[in-house]
Amino acid sequence: MKKLPIGIQTFSEIIDKDYLYIDKTKEAYKLIESGTKFYFLSRPRRFGKSLFLSTLQSIFEGKEDLFRDLYIYDKWDWSVSYPVIKIDFFGDLRTPQALKKRIIKTLKSNQERLGVECESIEDYGVCFQELIEETYKKYGIVNFESVKNSVSATKSNT
Ligand SMILES: Nc1ncnc2c1ncn2[C@@H]1O[C@H](COP(=O)(O)OP(=O)(O)O)[C@@H](O)[C@H]1O
Ligand SMILES: [Mg+2]
Repeated sequence: MKKLPIGIQTFSEIIDKDYLYIDKTKEAYKLIESGTKFYFLSRPRRFGKSLFLSTLQSIFEGKEDLFRDLYIYDKWDWSVSYPVIKIDFFGDLRTPQALKKRIIKTLKSNQERLGVECESIEDYGVCFQELIEETYKKYGIVNFESVKNSVSATKSNT
């Protein structure tokens, strides 16, 4: 029997370390394909919200290898990957100062992960906007198939 992923909220860690994973990729696929822009996951604590978001992140980042045994594997186009901005409000946020610190921290960790910078880190409203704009400028939508095709087209021309 597989180990239970107690306290683990990161999808890649569950798969890499071979913990038991209840396949929620059908729900993820349906949610993505429905095309709705915003979702509010209203479930109590420990109902799998964080792990589900982490699963969505891995899908959008195109981490094909993690999904080999799961529902979504042969349905998703793994040649396309998207940069993911993840805003996390975990922790004790009972004071305005703690909230501000957390917002700045989460914006910084996105900047580091995505390799982009915003100038106005103290003005988090502007920084969030910059984060989106800079991420879009840097990545757009990366389509590995078209990159591969253009590489092979270049090769066949030489
Ligand atoms: N699809 C799943 N497969 C296996 N275990 C799961 C799954 N979803 C949730 N869990 C278990 O439930 C725990 C709580 O999930 P979590 O995502 O942290 O909940 P929430 O964010 O809603 O509080 C996880 O640490 C994991 O042990
Ligand atoms: Mg959570």
